Amino acid sequence: MQEILTALIVCCAISTGLAILILIVDATIGNYGECEIDVNDGAKKLKVEGGQSLLSTLKSEGIFIPSACGGKGSCGLCKLKVTAGGGEILPTERGWLTDDEQNNGIRLSCQLKVKNDLKLQIPEEYFLVKEFKTEVISIKDMTHDIKEVTLKLLEPSNIDFRAGQFMQIMVPEYELSKEEVYRAYSLSSPPSQHDSVEFEIRLVPNGICTTFVHKYLKEGDKLTVNGPYGDFFLRDTEREIVFIAGGSGMAPIKSILFDMKEKQNKRRARYFFGAVSKRDLFHVDTMRQLEKELDDFTFIPGLSGALPEDDWDGETGLITEILARHMSSGDNTEAYLCGSPGMINACVEVLKAKGVPEELIYFDKFA
Ligand SMILES: Cc1cc2nc3c(=O)[nH]c(=O)nc-3n(C[C@H](O)[C@H](O)[C@H](O)COP(=O)(O)OP(=O)(O)OC[C@H]3O[C@@H](n4cnc5c(N)ncnc54)[C@H](O)[C@@H]3O)c2cc1C
Ligand code: FES
Repeated sequence: MQEILTALIVCCAISTGLAILILIVDATIGNYGECEIDVNDGAKKLKVEGGQSLLSTLKSEGIFIPSACGGKGSCGLCKLKVTAGGGEILPTERGWLTDDEQNNGIRLSCQLKVKNDLKLQIPEEYFLVKEFKTEVISIKDMTHDIKEVTLKLLEPSNIDFRAGQFMQIMVPEYELSKEEVYRAYSLSSPPSQHDSVEFEIRLVPNGICTTFVHKYLKEGDKLTVNGPYGDFFLRDTEREIVFIAGGSGMAPIKSILFDMKEKQNKRRARYFFGAVSKRDLFHVDTMRQLEKELDDFTFIPGLSGALPEDDWDGETGLITEILARHMSSGDNTEAYLCGSPGMINACVEVLKAKGVPEELIYFDKFA
């Protein structure tokens, strides 16, 4: 009995000792102290506390790096050039970086932890990105799973952006998330609307941001957003335009089309919008109105699973099939695609087969 008791006491003492050791090691290793971040060859020198990702460290310094996944390492948007102090590229970064990028110091800023002094190059346009305090002024049901959310900008009260760009919505800590998270949403309002912004947000089952927006957000609530970001915008050429979208991919295309109308852009444009059945279609009247207002614009919605009660006499089939039927040649054409990665990849193949050069196919994958 005496021996068992002694063994138990020894075990407890060893476990306690180990736990204390782990705490000390964690506190020592996790405490990197003050680090200096040199931005753009000395243009800015930031004194920061080490230990956080580079993405969130810069955010707390008011520098917003594009991100769609909120730092989970699953969007690949948060790339930055680190010229000194970055250490080895992590396995979680490799899949997102080309060989060229890896050789040139490009890193995923959400994966790189600030542990020592760093030297970075940050593109000038990122310094124009701002954080906005906003108020929700309207939430409308557009389909069974898409809501249109309009936010009035409070502070700052005005925004400048290019049609097609996106912003990040900050979701506060709530039932589904123990920390605040950021997600990317394309602006569906035109750039001429400076004092408010509009988004089309599709519910992803159990998704942190979309559940928050669909189930908890109310008119009158305050919301923080930052942006604008992205290089998905209409190129200034004379080529014919093919737009392709599905679901909430409608958002940036709508913004671009309104911008074209306001600028009296006369280019030929066709817009293929893929949906399953009629309940997934929205903004059809808006698009029909734009057909009247724009010089040479055609809206081509298509259903891949029309129901008998839909009484649908429009295009049917997958959006790839509809696109292939309508496009004879990709000569003198450029394309803009928005929606799920699967839909975009499949449509890119059709466009290339029709002769649209790969470098004239622009897209934003909502992943
Ligand atoms: C540049 C850009 C612009 C975007 N613009 C829009 C927009 O205008 N409107 C819009 O609705 N969305 C848009 N998105 C997608 C958006 O950023 C989020 O990824 C999406 O809303 C899911 O966020 P969540 O927090 O609800 O889900 P999360 O909590 O991030 O994800 C929950 C689960 O769902 C999966 N998941 C994530 N996204 C999807 C998806 N789209 N479909 C199916 N499963 C998914 C995840 O892998 C995860 O397993 C855009 C994305 C990018 C990169
Ligand atoms: S923020 Fe998405 S990969 Fe880094």
